[in-house]
Amino acid sequence: MLKVIASANGIVGIEAAMEVLKKGGTAVDAVEAGIRLVESNPEDTTVGYGGLPNLLGEVELDASIMDGETLAAGAVGAVKGYEHPISIARKVMEELPHVMIVGEGAERFAREMGFEKKDLLTPKAREIWEKGLKEKAPDIYGERAEYLESLRRFANLAVDPEKHLGTVNFIAMDSRGHLATGVSTSGWAWKYPGRLGDSPVIGAGNYADSRYGAAACTGRGEMAIRLSTARSIVLYMEMGLSLEEAATKAMLELARLKDRFWGRVSCIVMDAKGNHGAFSVGGPSKYVVMTEDMDAPQELPRVEIPVPNKK
Ligand code: GLY
Repeated sequence: MLKVIASANGIVGIEAAMEVLKKGGTAVDAVEAGIRLVESNPEDTTVGYGGLPNLLGEVELDASIMDGETLAAGAVGAVKGYEHPISIARKVMEELPHVMIVGEGAERFAREMGFEKKDLLTPKAREIWEKGLKEKAPDIYGERAEYLESLRRFANLAVDPEKHLGTVNFIAMDSRGHLATGVSTSGWAWKYPGRLGDSPVIGAGNYADSRYGAAACTGRGEMAIRLSTARSIVLYMEMGLSLEEAATKAMLELARLKDRFWGRVSCIVMDAKGNHGAFSVGGPSKYVVMTEDMDAPQELPRVEIPVPNKK
């Protein structure tokens, strides 16, 4: 059965992803198509065009894509001026002998591949960025010397994880039963320039292996990097754990992780049979599902894993 699951903000792209599968497209085609629509959504302040900028007011995007059939992967990080990092990541996977390229190199590659440049900072995103800086760090607003001090302040802000640390995740299963995963984000709002989260890191925010399953993460990427969360979930399924057991184990590892800026992490998971689920630590959230027999996507709650004795 054809299936697509996505983080809740994937609702704007999930039907297009399913259409791709219905027309015989691959799982990789489907996740790219779905994510491109999220990247183009100016209302989403966590991904692509309209994403919130770094400390300097620059929108820096990260994305990755993984083909669960071949374990081929492509990723880009800290890319400025291109609306569709997921498509650049796919080109990295298909055209280069590399898995990840970042910054100016990734922008050079995008240019060479014919991607069009675009100003990604929307008035709405600029307003949120300026308001945050003026309110939380009025003395350094307009300065560029005190990045670390201002980062500390913003890292300590009670940011809304959906709005300020969000990401889009897609997992698709195609007609051959192959899995693919895609992830795209503008990262942590007000981040230190050049900061990469888990989204472009294969194994941290994204992993797919059609033999066992696929997983993708949103939330505080530094934690998912430290625990290789997406790969862990897939590996636990390979070792014989059920989808629920594997995801719960990975979420408990996140829950117990000591981290000065501990924050919510969520994941979506699909196993090799197409069973799916979504989980989170640090707060409730939702995900969306569409199968070939559905007329419209369905929004479902994630299983929230309690944080044991968290200080
Ligand atoms: N999970 C997205 C990020 O940390 O950038």
